[in-house]
Amino acid sequence: MNSDRGVVVERLEKSFGAVQALRGVDFSAEPGEVLGVLGPNGAGKTTTVDILATLIRPDHGRALVAGHDVVADPAAVRRRIMLTGQHAALDDMLSGYENLVMFARLMGLRKREARIRAHELLGEFDLERAAGRRVGTYSGGMRRRIDIACGLVVRPDVVFLDEPTTGLDPRSRQGVWDVVAGFKKAGITTLLTTQYLEEADALSDRIIVIDHGVVIARGTADELKARTGGSYCEVVPLELKDMPAIAAALDSLLPPENRATLTTESDRITIPAPDGARTLAEALRRLDSAGMELVDIALRRPSLDDVFLQLTGHLATTPEAVQPEVVS
Ligand SMILES: Nc1ncnc2c1ncn2[C@@H]1O[C@H](COP(=O)(O)OP(=O)(O)OP(=O)(O)O)[C@@H](O)[C@H]1O
Ligand SMILES: [Mg+2]
Repeated sequence: MNSDRGVVVERLEKSFGAVQALRGVDFSAEPGEVLGVLGPNGAGKTTTVDILATLIRPDHGRALVAGHDVVADPAAVRRRIMLTGQHAALDDMLSGYENLVMFARLMGLRKREARIRAHELLGEFDLERAAGRRVGTYSGGMRRRIDIACGLVVRPDVVFLDEPTTGLDPRSRQGVWDVVAGFKKAGITTLLTTQYLEEADALSDRIIVIDHGVVIARGTADELKARTGGSYCEVVPLELKDMPAIAAALDSLLPPENRATLTTESDRITIPAPDGARTLAEALRRLDSAGMELVDIALRRPSLDDVFLQLTGHLATTPEAVQPEVVS
């Protein structure tokens, strides 16, 4: 196992009072690999990341980050990692450039080196035009980028990104995606937790799914999708107001866990199609006799969302206020 720049986690356990947050988590990540860490709310993702970043200590088990034990040598671990959100120390009164120079100086770079490094990072993160502006005036996406840039003043071996794009608009999210691609190119090991499964799908080399403090599935996105098996049938109504009637017409074809994911925001209904075209034909027959008009009905391969739903019984993102009348 090449662990001197990667991550090795063995039987990690952690409790907070009566809450067993981690109950024996095992995984590893190789240098240059992006490992997606998925799981429903409260699964133990942040606890895992916090242990690896030496912010909290495990009760049992062992973790090596860039070859250093998180309990025996936390200082050595900290010199080799970057954690987003860590830089709440970002100074709003200083410009982006000044923040970078300050971090570089704190990391022991000489004044000239610090300035050079700051300019490099402003270029890499497409922040040159905002370099002279106070960070307090930055948008959410720019803030996220300068935050990550500050963590890269000295190149880390391992990067922890705990929900780096939550709450960002699609354009800013793309900016963070580009940053992650850059980590990969630089041979940096990246642990990425995210609520957006299409993000995990696009960025991760491998994925682990944590639930109730244990790893319940692992593999590439394709392997996980293949394990879910079968395809899905997606029904898109012409009129959103027909959603409850469509759910009712599908009846037994719509299992409770899929039914439970429907919200007032939903614009389509997904049902498992174990019999492929036959399930689709049956759905169409039922919807037809109920007089439902559709924009589209189609078979598709499972998405990571389907995998996640099947494994954990939840959607990755918790739907806002589910209205019971939607699913009648
Ligand atoms: N400092 C703490 N004190 C008490 N309980 C905690 C503490 N930190 C985490 N927990 C509990 O440990 C469990 C795991 O929490 P954790 O934050 O690791 O989950 P998560 O997978 O990151 O969830 P989310 O998707 O909501 O961020 C939860 O039940 C949480 O309430
Ligand atoms: Mg968390």
